[in-house]
This record gives sequence, C-alpha cells and structure tokens, in this order.
Amino acid sequence: MTPDSPMKFDTRVVRAGISPDPTTGSIVPPIYATATYVLEEVGKDKGFDYTRAANPTRQVLEANLAAIEGGAHGVCYSSGMSAVDSCLKLLSAGDHVVCSDDVYGGTSRHFNKVLSRYGLAFTYVDTSQPETVRQAVRPQTRMLWVETPTNPLLKVTDLEAMAAIAKEHGLYLGVDSTFATPVFLRPLEFGADIVMHSTTKYLSGHNQIIGGAVITNRDDIFDELKFIQKTIGAVPSPFDCWLTLMGLKTLHLRMARHAESAQKVAEYLESHDKVARVAYPGLPSHPQHAIAKAQMSGFSGMISFELTGGLEAGKTVMNGVKLCGLAESLGAVETMITHPATMTHAEVPAEDRQARGLTDGLVRLSVGIEDVDDIIADLEQALEKA
Ligand SMILES: Cc1ncc(COP(=O)(O)O)c(C=O)c1O
Repeated sequence: MTPDSPMKFDTRVVRAGISPDPTTGSIVPPIYATATYVLEEVGKDKGFDYTRAANPTRQVLEANLAAIEGGAHGVCYSSGMSAVDSCLKLLSAGDHVVCSDDVYGGTSRHFNKVLSRYGLAFTYVDTSQPETVRQAVRPQTRMLWVETPTNPLLKVTDLEAMAAIAKEHGLYLGVDSTFATPVFLRPLEFGADIVMHSTTKYLSGHNQIIGGAVITNRDDIFDELKFIQKTIGAVPSPFDCWLTLMGLKTLHLRMARHAESAQKVAEYLESHDKVARVAYPGLPSHPQHAIAKAQMSGFSGMISFELTGGLEAGKTVMNGVKLCGLAESLGAVETMITHPATMTHAEVPAEDRQARGLTDGLVRLSVGIEDVDDIIADLEQALEKA
C-alpha cells in the first residue's frame, strides 16, 4: 500500500496494523505471554519493559482498532467498563459530565455509585435532543458522554450536534459506540474526541472475552490514557488480545449479516399483533431513523421490543425461546435475548427505569448470524405461548 492508495475499510479490518512476525513469518501475530522484557543494557530496551505499560500482542490489537475507527491511537483494556472508567479519569474532582439518559446500566452504576464518591457530578439527559444537552451544560461541565445507539432503547444521537456543543463549551466528547461498531459509525469523523467500545461485544464477536478499547486522534488524550493505564493497570491479557484480533478479522462480514437479519426480525416483530412497540434504528417508525440513516451506514444487530401482554408476556417469551439464549450479553454470533429490568439494568432504580421508558416488559434482542428464518421461527413459537 502506498500513501496514494490507502486501504479501504474492509482491508483495514483484516490487515491494518498486522504484519508477519519478523522472527518466523507467522501470518498470525504471536501471543507474547510475558510480564517483563530483558533490557540489553541499562536504559536500552526494545520498546517494552513491563506488560502493564505495553505488550506486543496488545499493540497489534491497538493499531488494528485505531485503523478501523480511523483514529491515530488505540488503548485496550481488560473490560469495557475499565475503558469507560479510564476516560472519566481524564477529569478531576468538581468536574461535571452530561451523559445520555439511556446508557448501559453498568455505566450509570459506575458514575452514580463510584465516581460520584470522588467528586464527579453527572446529569442525565436525552442526548437525542441537542437542546436539552445544551441546557444541561454548567460552568463545571468538562465532558459529554454519549452512547449511540443506546442500550437498551436504541436511541440515536446526532454526533455532529454534540461535537458543536462540545466545541462551543470546550468539553471532551466521548462516545460509547459499542452497539454501532466502526463498520456502521465512526464517531471521530463527526468530531468526537474519544470513541469507546466494549470489545466483549461485536468487535471480538464470539462471546470469547471481556475487553474494552478507546480510540482517539488527540495526542494529549492518548498520553494521559497511557499514563493512567500504566499507573493503574486495567490491561487485557495477551491471550484475550489475540482472541479479539481473531474475532475482528471477520467484523465487516459479521456486521453485514447482523444488520440484514436484525432488519428482517424487527419488521417481523413490528407486524406481530402481540408486540406493542419495536425499537430498531432501521425502522422508519424509529424516532431518530433520519439521523441514524444520515450518520450510520447500517443499523447493527440490536432490537428492543415490548409485548402487548407486558411483563408476564415478556417472561413467557424469554423463557419460551429455544434457539435464542437468555443471556446478559450481546453482539456475538449467537442470538441472545435479555430482560433489561431484571438483568443488565437491574441496578437502575425502578422509578428511574420507568422515567426512561425502560419498562418491566421490555425485551432486548441481539440478533446473531444464524439463519434468520430459524431466529424468526424461534420467536414465533415463543410468542405463540405469550
Ligand atoms: C453499551 C455498553 N457499554 C459498555 C459496556 C461494558 O462493557 P464490559 O461488559 O465489556 O465491561 C456494555 C456491556 O454490556 C455495554 O453494553
């Protein structure tokens, strides 16, 4: 590749940051399962001294992820939550964050129950409404933390509008892009400073690891994140980095199937008389369908829906599925079904859940890459019982 012929997206997914191993020619990057590295002499290392600071297998993953997101730097973590935590550690006591009101329950739990003890303050607003974001900014505000699409209601936020607010007030714009993946959305292109992923989900893609990543174009943010990571040590194991790299190779292919099948499943659910409402950004009925269409090149594989029979009907469906797995996670090759109110978002207080529209009857579906007819047939037999 020459600078005149930059790799296209699908090529970057498979190849960027990955070269044959210089020692053996191995096409697959080796797993450097080492804690430390022997120095040639005092002050002279080969770029590595201790794996908390850096590891060659991790570096390959970081370079690959940065290239896929279109960013200059990547930092990988031991979980999505440690990636979120590290971004928030860019702030100091007394700082204020405006955050999407429908973030993953683990994120709001971390903000409210841990980080608030260290002097950070949070205001949750519907970031799909830029005016409400603008009104929530205070003199102490330092960061906008946006999840798009959100977990579990699939709300979509206009990132260009967020970047304009962030620029106006000198704020960091951080985007949790776990649901979208860089295949469908690259927030840095819209002016985000930080993109964060739970690599546990689509990026690794096979329910094989817990991991996280942050990508940025800003050298100052990268330097600070590296310093924080080296100091605290929320690092992934070299083996988990390698598993993630193996999963990433097929990201573009998997995501195309996830999105194609999710569209069909969403349309099926929307036409079902036992389903009261369906949230999927690819449906024209989705309140932010136009924004999703403008800023995403596909709508990914997550759906949430509510049954006319409420909680009881929802439980019947979740207990009645045979192919779909009743599971906490999402974004893998297997179709998984979740009850946010008792599983992923159980620690969000009941009144907050109701206020957010996260009702007890809400079902979240992560559409896998099995044959879509089998997925629909499984839902059909479970819905019959509801
Ligand atoms: C949108 C989103 N962000 C962050 C996380 C946290 O990631 P992890 O479970 O890898 O710590 C999750 C987990 O479900 C998530 O759905």
